[in-house]
Amino acid sequence: MREVNKNSRSLAKTIALKGALIFLIIMPIVSFFIISPYFYLHDSPEKKPWVSWFNDPHERVYISWETEEETKGVLKYGTDKDDWDVEITENKSSKIHHLSLTGLDPDTKYYYSVEVEGEEYGAGMFRTAPSGFKEFTWVMISDTQQNLGPGHHYRVARVLEQKAEDYSFIANVGDIVEQGADKRYYDNFFQIASHYFDKLPFVPVIGNHDDRSVDQFTEYFINQVNTSQDHFYYSFNWSNVHVCIPHFAHGSESEMTDVQLNWLENDLARAQDKTFIVVMFHCPVIGASFFGENEVLMKNVKPILEDYGVDAIIHGHEHHYERGHLGDIMYMILGGGGGAFDVGLRPLPETEILTASPCYTEVEAKKDTLTFSTFTLEGSLIDEYTIEAED
Ligand SMILES: [Fe+2]
Repeated sequence: MREVNKNSRSLAKTIALKGALIFLIIMPIVSFFIISPYFYLHDSPEKKPWVSWFNDPHERVYISWETEEETKGVLKYGTDKDDWDVEITENKSSKIHHLSLTGLDPDTKYYYSVEVEGEEYGAGMFRTAPSGFKEFTWVMISDTQQNLGPGHHYRVARVLEQKAEDYSFIANVGDIVEQGADKRYYDNFFQIASHYFDKLPFVPVIGNHDDRSVDQFTEYFINQVNTSQDHFYYSFNWSNVHVCIPHFAHGSESEMTDVQLNWLENDLARAQDKTFIVVMFHCPVIGASFFGENEVLMKNVKPILEDYGVDAIIHGHEHHYERGHLGDIMYMILGGGGGAFDVGLRPLPETEILTASPCYTEVEAKKDTLTFSTFTLEGSLIDEYTIEAED
């Protein structure tokens, strides 16, 4: 009996020691992730102007900004920044400001300036879409969220700032922020994105973290397509490419509404005259990280994409870079835009390339080809893939 007690005491001591050791290792890590947001998140509501659109970037865009107090701003814009064509004074005060610019000329570079209380608040430029075919390049990132520490979106932003004039617009394929209901994360995101927002219109895709407050998301990125505001989907044409952005942030049954799926089908049906169709939604249909295969998207969405000849589907959500083929459709996961990387990646039979490093992807549209090139932040080519137009 004495021997049994001695063994029990020894076992208890070993368990206690191991427990203490695990506690000592894990606690600093857990504490870091709990405490670190207080160091890098700041209440900084002022947001310099950004440009976006939700239907026709040939002739209409929105310019938006946020001020700390309710103010009325003055927006000036035109093709010559020394001689503005149009001046708009807001007729009511607000903190988040959205002004619609209509009747723009296609394929034209515009400059703009926002004044608040007589002082320049921000200025920038954008280019409208061409009315016919013209070669162009856009850039894509995803998951700029700050999920484990401050992340690396600020490094991505500094690279894109240097290259912004090469691109027509930037798409962010979701999880733009970590906590969609906490405004401080938007404050941080906009502060970092201001490095490229003055030169690049923004094409937002809603992610599951942004989706924690669709109201807040749509306060910043107004939705002109689905006015019920419960889903955030839209599409547009640029040259020979149709870009369709449904709201599949979670890939859940609740997103498979008749309204949205009908919109998707109709939108893709209308796009059949375009050389290429690219669909962007946050949650991958398949991916090499822990989410694996999404049965809901596989069952409800993949058949629609196939029926309408979609060329490429672009996702985020999983924090790595991946490209492969889902049947005839090229798929990409662009999780290298800022969040901490996934561990334990397992390539799928469909995976053609898989890596985890901070990166961005350029898409170059030519008459008969659409080339996707993914680069590290140091400029090394990670991957290049070209889709040829069908005869
Ligand atoms: Fe996500």
